[in-house]
Amino acid sequence: MTGQGLQDFLRGYQHAHPDDVYTVDRPVSLDQHITAVVWELAERGRHPLLRFPSVEGSDREVVTNLFASRLRIERMLGAQPGELHDTYQRLAADAMEMAETDDGPITDRVDVGDRVDLGSLPLLTHFETDIGPYITSGIVVAEDAETGRGNLSYHRSVVASPTSLGTSLHSRGDLWRLLQDAAAMGRRLPVAMVIGAHPLFMLAASARVAFGVDEREIAGGLLGEPLEVVHTPKHGLRVPAAAEVVLEGEIDPAADEDEGPFGEFSGYSSDRSTRNRVDVCTVMQRNGAVWVDVVGGNSHEHLNLGRVPREAEMIAKLKDRFGSVAAVHYPHSGTHFHCYIAVDQRRPGEARQALLGLLGWDPYLKTVVAVDADVDVTRDEEVLWALATHFQPDRDMIVIDGLPGSALDPSADKLGTTSRLALDATRGEGFDAQRIEISSSARSIGREIVDDRAGQRRD
Ligand SMILES: Cc1cc2nc3c(=O)[nH]c(=O)nc-3n(C[C@H](O)[C@H](O)[C@H](O)COP(=O)(O)O)c2cc1C
Repeated sequence: MTGQGLQDFLRGYQHAHPDDVYTVDRPVSLDQHITAVVWELAERGRHPLLRFPSVEGSDREVVTNLFASRLRIERMLGAQPGELHDTYQRLAADAMEMAETDDGPITDRVDVGDRVDLGSLPLLTHFETDIGPYITSGIVVAEDAETGRGNLSYHRSVVASPTSLGTSLHSRGDLWRLLQDAAAMGRRLPVAMVIGAHPLFMLAASARVAFGVDEREIAGGLLGEPLEVVHTPKHGLRVPAAAEVVLEGEIDPAADEDEGPFGEFSGYSSDRSTRNRVDVCTVMQRNGAVWVDVVGGNSHEHLNLGRVPREAEMIAKLKDRFGSVAAVHYPHSGTHFHCYIAVDQRRPGEARQALLGLLGWDPYLKTVVAVDADVDVTRDEEVLWALATHFQPDRDMIVIDGLPGSALDPSADKLGTTSRLALDATRGEGFDAQRIEISSSARSIGREIVDDRAGQRRD
């Protein structure tokens, strides 16, 4: 049956794009070696999918960096180059009901009771500043007790005992709301944690969608076919039939478990946490399961995974509502907090209107900058040049205070309440300066000279 497994994806991708898969054959320690390889490659501008078949203390392969490259995410979605966001939006809009099956690879091995031992999993320590090893790819599945509608979200988790995890719900999204509903009814919240599944399931899980929209159906849209699911043994939660590992358990709204600090997307080690405990009663695994890790910190993988669905939604909304918006870019340097937009302004004030829309819609943004459409928003230095030369603080800056933002912004308070800043670095009316230019004939001679030199070097 199911071909929706991560291992099916890996086989196909390795075959189609061998140059984009980097297999580290020598044995590595689970203690920071894997993060160190990711960092070294990134410093050389490389973001391949990484496979570690030989890790000390475990007989499982570790796979990581799946989402570190946008080109790879385009390929996962079958998008044409440069059409990542449009393709994501189109496929996500085709959400499909799940297909329930009785079994699948994930039911190969099911451990309950005394056989549950979370310490036997290959747990990675990502940073020296982390309190210990973390599960970073854990996608928590929860269902509304009345409607059965599901929610998927990522939650960093530390193994606290053979049968419990400490986790954090600091983004206070839909899982937080479901937990509060459970608390109000005096119940524990049944959850399942999926560790390793098809990358398109993982991408759908990072979408921040309206309460009641089930990301498992969005995963079906991205896959182009209904997501095949099985029920977990105790609580009947629907999880991908072809997942690698699934932990089933409950969160007791009244129970605390210490966790953190952990290296977060901000580039800081953070102990801001809601300190929840997950009691695990079942471990499900497929035969030959690989261990999927999501690189922590402000890695390309962590930031891409967290924002590609959000970027896609924001770009579609902005372009739909504000005809002047020509391009939108979330720079890596700004983690989740900066966004640049290029506008083709036909009326004064259109840039500011779009900036305010964006600040209102995207819950993570703190600083947004508008530039004219001739400025390449994908290059920090061009945007900063526009800011340097077009912007006057007394008239081009709007600050709004007291908004909910990210609790992981170390400059915000512990709940993440933040102010937000819109910077209008468009030239605006009456701007009077001539941008320097080189004639096209001189440019082509310059190109010829440099190309010749490059040619000689090759010889
Ligand atoms: C790799 C990754 C790790 C994340 N870790 C956490 C976490 O530890 N705690 C948390 O509250 N949110 C975390 N998030 C953010 C939530 O998963 C995200 O906000 C989620 O989409 C919330 O969706 P919901 O509102 O549908 O629950 C993480 C996101 C990603 C992509």
